Amino acid sequence: MKETTEDGYIRRNNVIDNLFDIKAGYASFKNPIALASMAGITDSKFASGFKNAGLVILGGYNLDEKTNDAAKKEIGRGRTEFVSDEPMEFLNSELDATKGMTTIAVNVRAASLEPYKKAANMALESGAILEINAHCRQPEMTELGAGEALLKDIPHLCEYIREIKKTGAVLSVKTRANVVNDVELAQALEKAGADIIHIDAMHPQGIDIGVIRRVRNSTGLFIIGNNSVVDFESAKEMFSHGADMVSVARAVRSNPGIINQLVSEVSSFQSMTGWYNAPKHICGGGDLRALAFCCLPVKPCSLHGALKQAGISAEEFMKIKTEFARKTPIEYGDGTCFGSMTWCCKITKPCYLRDGALEASGLSDVEYMRIKKRLSEYILKRRKMPVQTFSK
Ligand SMILES: Cc1cc2nc3c(=O)[nH]c(=O)nc-3n(C[C@H](O)[C@H](O)[C@H](O)COP(=O)(O)O)c2cc1C
Ligand code: SF4
Ligand code: SF4
Repeated sequence: MKETTEDGYIRRNNVIDNLFDIKAGYASFKNPIALASMAGITDSKFASGFKNAGLVILGGYNLDEKTNDAAKKEIGRGRTEFVSDEPMEFLNSELDATKGMTTIAVNVRAASLEPYKKAANMALESGAILEINAHCRQPEMTELGAGEALLKDIPHLCEYIREIKKTGAVLSVKTRANVVNDVELAQALEKAGADIIHIDAMHPQGIDIGVIRRVRNSTGLFIIGNNSVVDFESAKEMFSHGADMVSVARAVRSNPGIINQLVSEVSSFQSMTGWYNAPKHICGGGDLRALAFCCLPVKPCSLHGALKQAGISAEEFMKIKTEFARKTPIEYGDGTCFGSMTWCCKITKPCYLRDGALEASGLSDVEYMRIKKRLSEYILKRRKMPVQTFSK
């Protein structure tokens, strides 16, 4: 069912389109919820049940004879895989079958560069994203130099990226955290030209949410956060540490309705707050975007460590924020802690003083947060050094 809301958004099946402005190159996403690939499971037929997702990642597909033979061996020991004697034709038919469904990515493995380039050209023609699988740990694949073996040979992976990017396709790299130094990896991927890093935030003791923040603080890559997203709370953890999008794999099998639930909840959250992936406050473990919510630097707190990492002095910080706020409605704020909403907290932190100032200025919660988002971009553009490893 389709209807137009008062503010001009298109509402389909109770989900609002155009509510988010999320893009990576030519790929745009109607919302920040993705279905992650599961080999042998997530093909075009399976994906047809998840049209509401902002991104469906098909695959992983094996692009050449060697990786298909390896997949056959894996099937022999009970794993699920997609195999084909004509892998490129198979990939093409899968891209055809998903046309118009939603934004599509194809997660792929190969033992050499050429098949990746062919697959990238196909993805480009379909307006899809190519995703290099640098994540798979199955020995049959890593022995061929595919999957996680690529993480352990970053120069080789970067050479692939540079060559694949010559096709013009939007490129994602699926990684597993804590295999190598994730910040160095992400910076190398960005320098080589990748558009998206899709991080499985796996940690031997559970999930490493800090890896999302470390990568957010050290690159401008589009980040898809993955691992153990099972409800909106776990999705919000990823968003508030810097993920632009979250992806879900295993949970869709136990609860096929989870994608719709997440889309609906993140859409409501975005309608109410205007910044679905706003960071936690710096003192709550948030990434550097949260400098937009920081107080005047007048007390000893985590702000000073964050400023050091951003290469900004306390005086410069005051100047940058004040400069930005001038001629915006957040300049005002009589009665707030520091006399201006420039220094005020996130809208989700209850505060009657700020709410009073918002009311007096006629500013809605969403407008306030949109200004804070622009302020965060303004601050981060002025940092003086590339931020290196951010402690956990
Ligand atoms: C059965 C199965 C197959 C998978 N196959 C792939 C694959 O082909 N490519 C890939 O990048 N990740 C693959 N993954 C990893 C998932 O995409 C995801 O990173 C991982 O399961 C953690 O996310 P989750 O907690 O949402 O399941 C697979 C996972 C499962 C359970
Ligand atoms: S300045 Fe305020 S918001 Fe920022 S870290 Fe310090 S106490 Fe937290
Ligand atoms: S007035 Fe409220 S929102 Fe503003 S800085 Fe003080 S506690 Fe935070």
